[in-house]
Amino acid sequence: MRVLGIESSCDETGIALYDSEKGLVAHALYSQIELHAEYGGVVPELASRDHIRKTLPLIEQVLNNAQLKRRDIDAVAYTAGPGLVGALLVGASIGKSIAWALGIPTLAINHMEGHLLSPLLEEQGPDFPFISLLVSGGHTLLVDVQGVGQYELLGESIDDAVGEAFDKTAKMLGLSYPGGPALAALAEKGRPDIYSFPRPMTNRPGLDFSFSGLKTFSMNTWLNSNQSAQDKADIALAFQTAAVETLAIKCTRALKQVGRNKLVVAGGVSANKALRQRLDALKGVTVYYPRPAFCSDNGAMIAFAGAMRKAAFAKQQTSTFSVRPRWPLDQLDPP
Ligand code: KG4
Ligand code: ZN
Repeated sequence: MRVLGIESSCDETGIALYDSEKGLVAHALYSQIELHAEYGGVVPELASRDHIRKTLPLIEQVLNNAQLKRRDIDAVAYTAGPGLVGALLVGASIGKSIAWALGIPTLAINHMEGHLLSPLLEEQGPDFPFISLLVSGGHTLLVDVQGVGQYELLGESIDDAVGEAFDKTAKMLGLSYPGGPALAALAEKGRPDIYSFPRPMTNRPGLDFSFSGLKTFSMNTWLNSNQSAQDKADIALAFQTAAVETLAIKCTRALKQVGRNKLVVAGGVSANKALRQRLDALKGVTVYYPRPAFCSDNGAMIAFAGAMRKAAFAKQQTSTFSVRPRWPLDQLDPP
């Protein structure tokens, strides 16, 4: 069975074809980073308009690369949330239209489920069950994953997501958008042990996160410094170290609490090298990541999640559709 995946929840148009026998057949990605860079963040209306321009040409490109025709597609999976409503509606309406025209089913995929399952695309992917740390621009989630669609939310951020905190701290330090990778690169020039930033919510029980205080702490440290290039790098490193350490402490706690020894880390921040080094050093735990190209938003994870859900659940979709800008992972209906 071949599933066409469409991702359009934010600032990336991602298209892919996943074959349940051959694996990932083709994928293409268009990033809108340049479009939004001059505004310092994603402009929702510009994002929607660009998805409209890019989605169909990218679908054609993926089909050409796979040397397949539209009629070779057996199902269409599209991101139905969470995300920007206009951007989501572009992928949903194109996906539904193609499916109606071809008389094939659609699967409304939760974007975070896409991230969560993405390490299973790899040859050495984990078996269920495992703990998943989902770290993106909009979410910081710890989830116990027992199987496809069986997700127990263990903890989440009560304010900023960790990616958002990276982005906001980077912006405050005058770095370019998107801030996460820029801040991580600058941190490599920072000197350890100059500053020690707090590890929020680690000295009390529980698995929730809070990153907005860390962002404010970074800003105050910057304002009270000489604001030299070296100060900037030192603060970037102190912020990153505190964020990474906080995530590692909570992951360790979650693995112990549930009694698991496998950890999956996905979402844009899973590309962060310092985070990977710290988690890889956890004793008695095997850590799995998506390949670097699939850490941030992409169509492959949506096509793959669609194929997994199609195989796991028999229920047919109705002909109506809606998108959900907010869509908690523990409230998924079978497709
Ligand atoms: O999953 P993603 O591509 O989009 C969302 O679903 O949000 O994640 C994007 C987030 C942004 O906040 C970006 O700054 C962050 O991931 N990010 C990073 C790195 N690469 C991307 N944060 C820290 N270090 C990185 N290397
Ligand atoms: Zn994402």
